[in-house]
Amino acid sequence: MLIALLPGDGIGPEVIAQARRVLDALDLPGLTFEEALVGGSAYKAEGHPLPAATLDLAKRADAILFGAVGDPDCDNLERHLRPEQAILGLRKELTLFANLRPATLFPELADASALRPEVASQIDMVIVRELNGDVYFGDKGMRQTADGRREGYDVMSYNEDEVRRIARVGFETAMARGKKLCSVDKANVLETSQLWRDVVIETHAEYPEVELSHMYVDNAAMQLVRNPGQFDVIVTGNLFGDILSDQASMCAGSIGMLPSASLDANQKGLYEPIHGSAPDIAGQGKANPLATILSAAMMLRYSLGQPQAADRIECAVAKALAGGARSPDLGGSMTTTQMGDAVLAQLR
Ligand code: IPM
Ligand code: MG
Repeated sequence: MLIALLPGDGIGPEVIAQARRVLDALDLPGLTFEEALVGGSAYKAEGHPLPAATLDLAKRADAILFGAVGDPDCDNLERHLRPEQAILGLRKELTLFANLRPATLFPELADASALRPEVASQIDMVIVRELNGDVYFGDKGMRQTADGRREGYDVMSYNEDEVRRIARVGFETAMARGKKLCSVDKANVLETSQLWRDVVIETHAEYPEVELSHMYVDNAAMQLVRNPGQFDVIVTGNLFGDILSDQASMCAGSIGMLPSASLDANQKGLYEPIHGSAPDIAGQGKANPLATILSAAMMLRYSLGQPQAADRIECAVAKALAGGARSPDLGGSMTTTQMGDAVLAQLR
């Protein structure tokens, strides 16, 4: 099994290094690693955020462990050369259309949540976010209006096949959990969302056991802080999912805690923490590596057929937290490496 390691920018290399230590400590037979540049670091070295060799490695690999991309030095480049294009390109080129972002609160972190502990402790959900369509990939550009003003535009669209395949992932995810699916859209305003809702309702016929509800995205944002315990699985589009998953992460303690999986139709996947490259703290040993370590656990479970190894990692993280391991985002002062040490100590 070949794992592509793509550390990327900012804190990416620091958090990937800790996940690698944890994977090495499991000593799983047959795992091999190959590393490649991605994002701003790839642009600086090779002139492109997703060099051909990196894409080729990602295609050859059985799974991809990804750090983060984003570099303020690159913010003024033409859009197709910016670091973010690397992750968007990988998602598109590998048809990684289903993004699973579990948000659960480790009980030890109840006081790190932005919510009251009794509200936060109810959080146990998965956000299923569509990754290959929506306003992210529609026609976009800058133009001039007839009277000479600058205008930017990004077209939002989904076709029914795109909605159906992510709806099925939402229903399947719900079937494996609490059998409740909430589809989030903005059907009161957007045609894209009206189609989304219609197709989700049609797809429900294949999953009669699942209790389906619909929520407008503004209400969902509010309900996530009012009563997050009501959600089991949320299925939503690319843009709404981007926003709601960041919000859910703070409800669950810290954005430094949430892993994610981006899967194709055959369970091949890219695994990454949902936090970004955090350039403000890069290179200072302040980053929390747990989201990346938990992403490695998801990789073992979903793409590498190693659920027991995944359990071992998740258990070790829980024990490390119970033992008091806290990086600055969790209100402590442990370094990135010390957080890795704390997990490793519990693996043995
Ligand atoms: C995420 C990130 C990306 C996104 C960025 C880096 C392009 O915010 O994975 O949530 O918007 O999808
Ligand atoms: Mg995001």
